Amino acid sequence: MAIRLGDTAPNFTAETTEGTIDFYEYLGNNWGVLFSHPKDFTPVCTTELGEASRLKAEFDKRNVKVIGLSVDPLDAHKGWVGDIEETQGHALNFPLIADPDRKVSVLYDMIHPNASENFTVRSVFVIGPDKKVKLTITYPASTGRNFDELLRVIDSLQLTANYSVATPVNWKHGEDVIIVPTVSDEDAKQKFPGGWKTLKPYLRIVPQPNK
Ligand code: BEZ
Repeated sequence: MAIRLGDTAPNFTAETTEGTIDFYEYLGNNWGVLFSHPKDFTPVCTTELGEASRLKAEFDKRNVKVIGLSVDPLDAHKGWVGDIEETQGHALNFPLIADPDRKVSVLYDMIHPNASENFTVRSVFVIGPDKKVKLTITYPASTGRNFDELLRVIDSLQLTANYSVATPVNWKHGEDVIIVPTVSDEDAKQKFPGGWKTLKPYLRIVPQPNK
């Protein structure tokens, strides 16, 4: 069954390039990114895994634990990681799940049979410290994901979780944000003592709190 926003991310145990992992134990109290790859030894996936490894410091800064998945077996993953370092200049620095029996892929609805019977699509799940699914993105196999966008969304999600603000269209880190409509003006006075700009009663703009 499809996993939707607000659902509890299902736990699982899986073989990975870093040994057997219990997903919840791996995440601990951190945020998580679980993302799938159609197949080992494929060009787009190779670039994505290199880029996610390059961005390790950015994920760490945001308390995000990253974990990848491909339906190929562990020995294939072990052969492929050398190619990732050689061609992308960054060694894989997070676990890559081997899912040849499709256990995790099916659990997370990563196989879309009308796209491919055999391979996963490019799914992304961002999971909060409460283990709830905060974001899902699905790309086709032929399109590499935009990891700057993934970091941008994580920043937005964390701002909402920590400061009760939402982010407007095309928002970038450092730009003004919006007080969520569920915060009354009364409560907003406590949360945003520096004040805000009211364009409409439902559209209240504040500087990004944690800038
Ligand atoms: C790739 O990672 O390059 C890829 C994988 C499956 C289909 C198309 C492209």
